Amino acid sequence: MVAPPKAPLDSTTTIPSTGSKLVPSIQTKHEAALGTLLREMLACKDSIPLYSGLRQSKWQQMLQIGIYVLQNSAWPAIWASEHLDLGPNTVQSLDDADVMYTTWDHLEAYIDSGKTLTLPTVVRGEIPQQRHSESSVRQQFSERMEDRFGNNKIDVQDPSIHIDQASARAVPTAEVLQRLEQAKKHLSNDSLPYNLLNLRDVVEKPIPDILERRRFQLINSLSDRALSRKGSNSVAGKPHTDPIKNAAGEPYIDFYSCRSFNLYAQRGAVSGCHIDWLNGTWARLWTGLKAWPVMTNLTEQEMERYKKFESLYLPEKNRLKMVVLEPGDTLIMPPGTMVVHAPITIEDALMDGGMFWDEQQILSILRNIHTVANHPGLSNELVARQFAGVMDALEKWIESDAKRFAGSRDEGDFKAEFQEILADLKSVISCDCAAPHCKPAKCPCFQSRSGCSHWCASHKSRSCQQ
Ligand SMILES: [Fe+2]
Ligand SMILES: [Zn+2]
Ligand SMILES: [Zn+2]
Repeated sequence: MVAPPKAPLDSTTTIPSTGSKLVPSIQTKHEAALGTLLREMLACKDSIPLYSGLRQSKWQQMLQIGIYVLQNSAWPAIWASEHLDLGPNTVQSLDDADVMYTTWDHLEAYIDSGKTLTLPTVVRGEIPQQRHSESSVRQQFSERMEDRFGNNKIDVQDPSIHIDQASARAVPTAEVLQRLEQAKKHLSNDSLPYNLLNLRDVVEKPIPDILERRRFQLINSLSDRALSRKGSNSVAGKPHTDPIKNAAGEPYIDFYSCRSFNLYAQRGAVSGCHIDWLNGTWARLWTGLKAWPVMTNLTEQEMERYKKFESLYLPEKNRLKMVVLEPGDTLIMPPGTMVVHAPITIEDALMDGGMFWDEQQILSILRNIHTVANHPGLSNELVARQFAGVMDALEKWIESDAKRFAGSRDEGDFKAEFQEILADLKSVISCDCAAPHCKPAKCPCFQSRSGCSHWCASHKSRSCQQ
């Protein structure tokens, strides 16, 4: 067996030690848990029998990625809001930091002073006792899953799946819930960790106050604008699917449903490097412990390698910065910033979260979306079906009120740049299949499972085969 390294995370090169309390305290607190998981992963890797199916499974890949990430991440340079009991900053200025640590009050003051969030940010919050205690949220989650989806199935990332197949399969809810009850203390090849990445929000806790600010309501506003433009009777009523007009019974807008989700992962679950498709995520940990290594400001070279290896990309040593989320922590990956992340679950973790946009970052957001749309392997999500409609709504809005989005920029320049990015997006998120049918093998809309839209050539005169 390979001897496990003593210090799993290399903290010696990147982090100045003077005056720093926060990083050592985080490091001391979590180093042992990370090291234990690493040792167990190494042991699992070494004990997969030679001719076992696990040799060609996602588990083998997850172990490789998990071990690499744990061994090669560095503790981040942290800029913490002043006067917090989080401890002093480890860097002189925000510009030198990898990650910001703050509290909700300080984050609100920061945003309200007109600043823009560009760093991955951890907001330390309390999980209020009693009503919201960790175990009660965990229990509510299970009860609600059982009551709402007990007779259905849930998408589960099951590591026993063969590497050539899709990573998720539908498993009966009851079976999943039973598995989650039997939390394993130690990692073993006999019971692989489930990861539930496609869960509706059943926890239903209030979203962080800061996201109620007008500028962060953009996804909600655009969803309703896109929706109300669909029908002639565009009143602000409750949405519903008209069974006659919409025979397919398609949910009315999946773009909107990105606003909130739950995640549940068991100890040892690993996700390879990815970017969230819509660019702009908050995720709050309710129970467990989650390592959330992040990487920003990719060089051209790094980007090329990332595009080549996609979710199997292993960044250079120390490039991933280790963030460990504790219950009550909310991680914000700001809209407009490309944050590559590769989460590893250290203790069974229940999270809620959502996607959000910032009006003042719309061009960066769309540019990042274009990058991912061009290389769908960089994300683990699909293009929202109504994306084209949402972009139409945004275009109309910007035409009538560019000032709101342009901020301090010249309105004309802003509009021109928006149109340029929009044209790029249209060329990527569409197909030019000729009438009468899309050709599944060649159609990007079919391949990406996002479906055709009016952005596609001859869409009206053609039936889409999906
Ligand atoms: Fe993600
Ligand atoms: Zn097509
Ligand atoms: Zn198409």
